[in-house]
Amino acid sequence: MQIFEQIAPLRTALTSHRRAGETIGLVPTMGYLHAGHMALVKRAKAECDRVVVSIFVNPTQFGPNEDFAAYPRDRDRDLAMLSAEGVDGVFAPTVEAMYPRPGATTVSVEPLGDILIGKVRPGHFQGVATVVSKLFHIVQPDRAYFGEKDFQQLAVIRRMVADLDMPVTIVGVPTVREADGLAMSSRNVRLDPGSRAAASVLARALGAGERQVASGERDPDAVVAAMREIISGEPRAELRSLDLCDAETLDAVERIGERPVVLLVTAAFGGVLLIDARTVAPPTQPSATGAASAA
Ligand code: PAJ
Repeated sequence: MQIFEQIAPLRTALTSHRRAGETIGLVPTMGYLHAGHMALVKRAKAECDRVVVSIFVNPTQFGPNEDFAAYPRDRDRDLAMLSAEGVDGVFAPTVEAMYPRPGATTVSVEPLGDILIGKVRPGHFQGVATVVSKLFHIVQPDRAYFGEKDFQQLAVIRRMVADLDMPVTIVGVPTVREADGLAMSSRNVRLDPGSRAAASVLARALGAGERQVASGERDPDAVVAAMREIISGEPRAELRSLDLCDAETLDAVERIGERPVVLLVTAAFGGVLLIDARTVAPPTQPSATGAASAA
């Protein structure tokens, strides 16, 4: 496995693979890897001839009062995990290599990047879209892999690629969870034991919302209210956002119809911000229960 800290040598190495007709997969990460990231890597390995994983804690996607400095890092452990998985190249640039000068060019995907989590974290998705666009230009992957846990991020990237005609296929990978349902996240390590136990409430709330939609509930407010009640039963949870949206457009849904919806939640536990999401396909025919509760 080759490790690159600068852009030019990575480009040189990738050019020879591309000339040999090999397909290149990219898995962008901020490191402190866990089984969720590794699911993306495994999928990339299965589908591409060469796999590059980037590890870069991107300062431009963190707000001034967010956890950029406290974001967990363990480069040696990350490299060992990636090497064991048979990854070909790791791109782990310094901040100076990625941003040698103050950037004058940014990518913002509107309004997708400004709604929902974009409201809780202003500027976050502009930082994400800009750095992912830079990574796409540096690596020029055929396929790039993103987790469905960060549902809005995936939607923003898909839209950026479509709008700017970027020649890359975006692959979404299902969320990997802990035994109690908590979505794996690099930030979970920052939860104190009480907050860690409390954080499973997010998966419980999503499960309850999913069951309501799947059983025919048509009123988004009723679904959100039921989820809110579950989360408010956990005193350590500070709810930041809770939404039911169209799974494709992320538009607000007035009445749940035939199209899949996504439940999105953001909450802080002891100062650590966690997000989770679940997509649900409503039943095509409203069930007796759903019709009754929607009436
Ligand atoms: P990071 O949080 O490190 O996540 C890297 C990728 O792993 C993202 O696509 C994320 O959705 C995916 N991922 C994280 N937890 C997961 C889980 N439990 N199951 C499945 N996939 C999971 O997201 C970022 O970094 C950054 O914003 C980045 C895209 C690298 C741009 O800086």
